[in-house]
Amino acid sequence: MALKLKYHNTFTLLFLLVNLSFHGNAAAQNETLAASFIFGDSLVDAGNNNYLSTLSKADVPPNGIDFKASGGNPTGRFTNGRTISDIVGEELGQPNYAVPYLAPNATGKAILNGVNYASGGGGILNATGSLFVNRIGMDIQIDYFNITRKEINKLLGESEAREYIMKKSLFSIIVGSNDFLNNYLIPFVSTGVRVSQNPDAFVEDMINHFRTQLKRLYQLDARKFVVSNVGPIGCIPYQRIINELNDDDCVDLANNLATQYNARLKDLLAELNDNLPGATFVLANVYDLVSELIVNYKKYGFTTASRACCGIGSGGQVAGLIPCVPTSSLCSDRYKHVFWDQYHPTEAANLILAKQIIDGDKRYVSPMNIRQLWNLLS
Ligand SMILES: *[C@@H]1O[C@H](CO)[C@@H](O)[C@H](O)[C@H]1NC(C)=O
Ligand SMILES: *[C@@H]1O[C@H](CO)[C@@H](O)[C@H](O)[C@H]1NC(C)=O
Ligand SMILES: *[C@@H]1O[C@H](CO)[C@@H](O)[C@H](O)[C@H]1NC(C)=O
Ligand SMILES: *[C@@H]1O[C@H](CO)[C@@H](O)[C@H](O)[C@H]1NC(C)=O
Repeated sequence: MALKLKYHNTFTLLFLLVNLSFHGNAAAQNETLAASFIFGDSLVDAGNNNYLSTLSKADVPPNGIDFKASGGNPTGRFTNGRTISDIVGEELGQPNYAVPYLAPNATGKAILNGVNYASGGGGILNATGSLFVNRIGMDIQIDYFNITRKEINKLLGESEAREYIMKKSLFSIIVGSNDFLNNYLIPFVSTGVRVSQNPDAFVEDMINHFRTQLKRLYQLDARKFVVSNVGPIGCIPYQRIINELNDDDCVDLANNLATQYNARLKDLLAELNDNLPGATFVLANVYDLVSELIVNYKKYGFTTASRACCGIGSGGQVAGLIPCVPTSSLCSDRYKHVFWDQYHPTEAANLILAKQIIDGDKRYVSPMNIRQLWNLLS
């Protein structure tokens, strides 16, 4: 990826933040989002993996160091602060973050605010993430939502529960990266798969599973969906390290797989918009959004998009392969890094991504943005 930097505008981030809080106040005048149901992987896991015995965990410092609600203590979020879903919930006026499904407090009325089923290492395909020993894949996340769905019936009565889910709830899904990073692209795990399935067949398999999963959510009365595509996984620090690339280079194979999947995902969502009455599927173009941040990072006030903040080796090399743990080195300005660790964006990057998904134009979110989707609800 060639870097051509035209601007250096450190005020852009500040402007975005100010603009974001302006909308936050204005949104409070409209009906607020009642419930947020979140599915996917570590990009939005808010603590489910704390309750699993798994190698994919973010329950140690300095993860969460900038998360105000926990006083800077780790929560299981794989970033320094809020995830994209946390920010979206706040923006649409939610008083609390959706509780992790496996947390002890995910009971009673708390679930009416929404539930987060996302799990680090999880994917669309059931086999994805098996190297972490435990993680919750999409099939199981939807089984769990089916259980929540029945709880909501008990709390509200069947017909009101149905209205609540159909009209006042938002379903956000960020998944797919692990199906490549922690399945198809891992030689020792998936040699068999890669021998028997070319990229086309693998992507087709993912899309077919995802179609079934989204239809199951629809059967359970979900109607308003925001689905993210897969980001430029060939450009994350982890891929740059294992492939020993220069700062500005990306791994073509990984990016090509993501691009191929994203094209099929776009078709899938169009198909579901046509065929599932009353449903709206919005596509969040995380691939182009993150690519924009990586290429034009200076424009957004970042000083690097290639080095992770947490886990930088003493030699100042590209971030190490170990995850972000207490012994990792930590960058001095967390708001100047696009990446928190070798996989995940910082809160500063998440704020920009969320802002674009909420209020952005068709380049980044289509056929409408989340605010328009929400105004359609209320
Ligand atoms: C509030 O709702 C109205 C009507 O649905 C809409 O035009 C307006 O943009 C909304 N305001 C915000 C901040 O979302
Ligand atoms: C529920 O518990 C989690 C910890 O597992 C905590 O982070 C969250 O703030 C709690 N939420 C509510 C609404 O009590
Ligand atoms: C999916 O994986 C889980 C373990 O995460 C396992 O219990 C379940 O049987 C698997 N389901 C299928 C259909 O393979
Ligand atoms: C939800 O669970 C019930 C059993 O309690 C089952 O009959 C139904 O098929 C499930 N629905 C979905 C969409 O998984």
